[in-house]
Amino acid sequence: MDEFVARSLDEIRFWSRIMKEHSLFLGLGFRAEDTQLKNEANQFYAVFEEIERRAYEFQPETDPHIIQAFNTEVRIAATNIWAFKRKVLGLILQCKLPGQTNFPLLVDHVSREANYFRNRLEELNSGTLEPLPDAIIDENVFFLKIMADHAKFIGHLLDPSERKLVDQAREFSNDFDKLVFQAVDLSHMRPQSQTVPLLSQFVDENRVSVKSLRDFKKTARDLIEECRIKSIIHPLLADHVFREAERFLFILDMFDQSLSGVKVNKREILY
Ligand SMILES: [Fe+2]
Ligand SMILES: [Fe+2]
Repeated sequence: MDEFVARSLDEIRFWSRIMKEHSLFLGLGFRAEDTQLKNEANQFYAVFEEIERRAYEFQPETDPHIIQAFNTEVRIAATNIWAFKRKVLGLILQCKLPGQTNFPLLVDHVSREANYFRNRLEELNSGTLEPLPDAIIDENVFFLKIMADHAKFIGHLLDPSERKLVDQAREFSNDFDKLVFQAVDLSHMRPQSQTVPLLSQFVDENRVSVKSLRDFKKTARDLIEECRIKSIIHPLLADHVFREAERFLFILDMFDQSLSGVKVNKREILY
């Protein structure tokens, strides 16, 4: 099985569904009179729904050249939705859409996810995947901030009367803000910080926190689904942020495995 084809299809299957759902969330947040923006959001929904469908139709044995062309096409769509999200962010920050209901941080957040998707496709197609120690730091800087944002969204979209859950969400937000700073510190200390013991401790520590946030999201998702708590969280958004935590955990597990492999081969120092 071709590694390039498998990785490309995996990224596209995961992120095209995510982009599709972002279009839905953005559309729901616009005001009734913002028909043009709603139409644009609906068009992106259709584009990514179609991309998702096609990504599941390709087999692992597909000619890599066909996948390369598909990646390029999807990268352009990801760039377009990124530009749309940045445009919406600009409108919100200039108070041109008073009364719309998406937080600016959420719009910025979904644009960062589109940018990440676009970069992954670019890296896959150009064959310039980062060396492992850089990938470990960069993916963590990206995903820890994503997780910190999620905790903040949950905290702000729960009903204020759900005091205990709001407190828990705030604790996760604080915890992840600290982890983001730690990751940025490690990033600044590059390349000297890229030793196996430091990276492996970094991955372990982050994994513990992501697991507990993932469990919290799962609980919140189930409670929302069963109508047991008060909130303005869309059930699909609750599931969406849960899936993104699962994705991060999957990536952390991959790093952990690669690091233990490195430990065996290269002893303790990568650089
Ligand atoms: Fe997302
Ligand atoms: Fe997210």
